[in-house]
Amino acid sequence: METNKVYEEIISKMDLCAPAPEEEPYRQYYFIGRARKALAEVEEKLGRKLTFHVATFGCQMNARDSEKLRGILEEIGYEPTDTEEADLVLYNTCTVRENANTKVYGRLGGLHSWKKKNPHMMIGLCGCMMQEEHVVKTLREKYRFVNLIFGTHNIYKLAELMSRALEHPQDMIVDIQQKTDLMVEQLPVDRTYKFKSGVNIMYGCNNFCSYCIVPYVRGREKSREPIDILREIEQLVEDGVIEVMLLGQNVNSYGKTLENKVSFAELLESVAGIEGLRRVRFMTSHPKDLSDDLIAVMAKYPDRICPHLHLPLQSGSSRLLKSMNRRYTKESYLELVDKIRAAMPEISLTTDIIVGYPGETEEDFLETMDVVEKVRYDSAFTFIYSKRSGTPAAEMDDQVPEDVVKDRFNRLLLLVQKIGREQTGRFEGQVKEVLVEHVNEQDPGLVTGRMDNNSVVHFPGDASLIGQIVKVKLDKCHGFYYLGTQA
Ligand code: 5AD
Ligand code: SF4
Repeated sequence: METNKVYEEIISKMDLCAPAPEEEPYRQYYFIGRARKALAEVEEKLGRKLTFHVATFGCQMNARDSEKLRGILEEIGYEPTDTEEADLVLYNTCTVRENANTKVYGRLGGLHSWKKKNPHMMIGLCGCMMQEEHVVKTLREKYRFVNLIFGTHNIYKLAELMSRALEHPQDMIVDIQQKTDLMVEQLPVDRTYKFKSGVNIMYGCNNFCSYCIVPYVRGREKSREPIDILREIEQLVEDGVIEVMLLGQNVNSYGKTLENKVSFAELLESVAGIEGLRRVRFMTSHPKDLSDDLIAVMAKYPDRICPHLHLPLQSGSSRLLKSMNRRYTKESYLELVDKIRAAMPEISLTTDIIVGYPGETEEDFLETMDVVEKVRYDSAFTFIYSKRSGTPAAEMDDQVPEDVVKDRFNRLLLLVQKIGREQTGRFEGQVKEVLVEHVNEQDPGLVTGRMDNNSVVHFPGDASLIGQIVKVKLDKCHGFYYLGTQA
């Protein structure tokens, strides 16, 4: 990739025997050079190239972070591989629910068996789960075979940490920061898709919803300067990107930490104006901060800004919403949805819902079901409440019994799926633009892509269509996807 060539030139000119520069990202360029040398020595000893695999757990933020991690590892000289039978395996972890943690511990067992057969293998862990003290303590005590542990605030330091790990393969290197004011960009990135990319516009979260661990593991909200974001997107467009997803835990509060205040609506309008960019998406919107200006900008650029809003509800009960510290009510949420639909009648709405939050009664749950019926989401992620230690909700004593939660969860899922199918199918028979993402995994005669509202479409075609926006007749909706034909 073009931008990675620029880094290459800077790195090749650096004096690797001199002390490391203090300033970022130059310090990391220096360590890419150092790690590259150390890796080359191992490769010479083993007589082959070394491979790496990054496994991503969790959300879009983590997916984007993993692209950065992969970019750095490739720049160091590792070759990517699809399997975990690699010379370096890095888990980018999530901790939003307990099962995300359980999965990581389980899979570490498998990695250990592989490492016993390949003693030079390295295992790294990073991301949200590593920001929890008890996790690092457990790893130090019971998982001594892990080489490298770092958190969410120092992803950018991977080259420096890898350089240390390669020079001291017997050590367990742990580098966790509690917070940071730094936002180091301008590092190599290996994008999963050539034609679309996530773009971080802010980091962290200031909301402190009572059930959520994110503010503790991702730190306080920090927005990037608009000029940096726009420049990054322009560079991506030059590199062949036609769709970007602006990423933040709560994009609607973008800009509040900047010296020269800029609203998310203003940023979005500037992004929509970038020449060559065909689609802009964003994630996630907190309902309490969604402004009229944002709705107006979305409605003003219907061909550029995707008609899709992910608007996490969490619960339909105003009483529980108050306890969750969500700062909206059932009524104000529904009013907001009405306002959005009045401006953009065809918009697709999606959401997140938690079932079994402490103290949830049948009445509370029925309020949630009522909102689902009224809003009619295209799709909804439904979660069983998971107790996260350190959050206020974990201290609440009226936890809901498991069987009651399971029953509610199943009822909610049935409703969400029924409405989701009806909503998704509302464009049947119409012609829509589809951005083709890949050849269909089950049927190589088909390609798979997404409409602007994020619905999935399969239609006959070949790999030459990947990355193109194609007009497709939506012949038949099969639940959550369409089968179509090129129009
Ligand atoms: N238990 C269950 N679901 C949770 N989420 C966040 N914290 C928890 C928790 N403790 C869900 C919310 C959020 C999504 C990313 O994860 O619905 O929107
Ligand atoms: Fe993403 Fe939250 Fe999971 Fe971290 S904890 S990966 S921010 S969902």
